[in-house]
Amino acid sequence: MKYAIITGASRGLGEGIAKCLIQEQLSVISVSRTENEELKKLAVDTGTFYQHYSCNLSLEKEVQEVFWEIAHKIFKRNPVDVYLFNNAGVIEPIHTVGNLDPTPIIRNIQVNLIAPMIITNIFLSKFRQTATKVYVVNVTSGAATRPIEGWSVYCSSKAGLNMFTETAALEQVSGGSDHKIIAFSPGVMDTEMQGTIRSSSKDEFKDLDQFKEYKEQNKLLSADIVAGALVELVLRGNAESGKVYHIRDLIG
Ligand SMILES: NC(=O)c1ccc[n+]([C@@H]2O[C@H](COP(=O)([O-])OP(=O)(O)OC[C@H]3O[C@@H](n4cnc5c(N)ncnc54)[C@H](OP(=O)(O)O)[C@@H]3O)[C@@H](O)[C@H]2O)c1
Repeated sequence: MKYAIITGASRGLGEGIAKCLIQEQLSVISVSRTENEELKKLAVDTGTFYQHYSCNLSLEKEVQEVFWEIAHKIFKRNPVDVYLFNNAGVIEPIHTVGNLDPTPIIRNIQVNLIAPMIITNIFLSKFRQTATKVYVVNVTSGAATRPIEGWSVYCSSKAGLNMFTETAALEQVSGGSDHKIIAFSPGVMDTEMQGTIRSSSKDEFKDLDQFKEYKEQNKLLSADIVAGALVELVLRGNAESGKVYHIRDLIG
């Protein structure tokens, strides 16, 4: 049996990943604050196992409780493969340094960086020295390696996620483990996150006009197409552990 856990599957890229994996007949567990009814229906229609857990990823206690419960539950079924997609993310706060409130800074780092660290740690701990292969995908961004004015917190969280991915992958190799951990940068997609970006002001975000143009000129990628390419890489692409993959490497 193969399980996939996807954070942020209620919409956007996470929803696309969940849809693909349900169609591939993997058992899917979705984690976010709200549930996506369409995923539940798709699972019923395709006869696939699907379960939703409600969890606020900015709250460490909730993350610990929910993910240990998921890990125990899956462990008991002795799966062949476990795929963990740390996909949930937030872009806010959008503003220049000197104009930031502390609460959104903390929430961003908790959702984008601390939650993936804690969740990955739980799964690599639970499935240490078992026959189950754990495959972690951390969804990152081009902003991890390119400073974008107004996005200092987001850029920093994704840069941290890349380094966490690379370090954890090295450790798995040194420990003689087959578990894999990669990062994936999905490109600029037509999701709610882009809507949030476009609703900021020029004062907060210098490149606002460029991002409005992406939408007006139809340059945004479809989340479903990006999800399809990622799932293909993960299930059949023999990806290299520790590597940061970019959507442009996968689709022309
Ligand atoms: N869109 C882009 O252009 C773009 C570009 C590069 C990278 N990315 C990355 O791609 C990933 C997916 O982004 P997207 O565009 O699909 O975003 P999105 O449409 O805004 O969806 C974000 C998802 O994250 C979940 N989430 C946010 N805060 C949460 C919290 N506190 N607790 C639990 N879940 C939370 C949301 O679920 P609930 O609200 O239901 O909790 C939602 O399912 C993110 O990591 C993002 O940084 C996006």
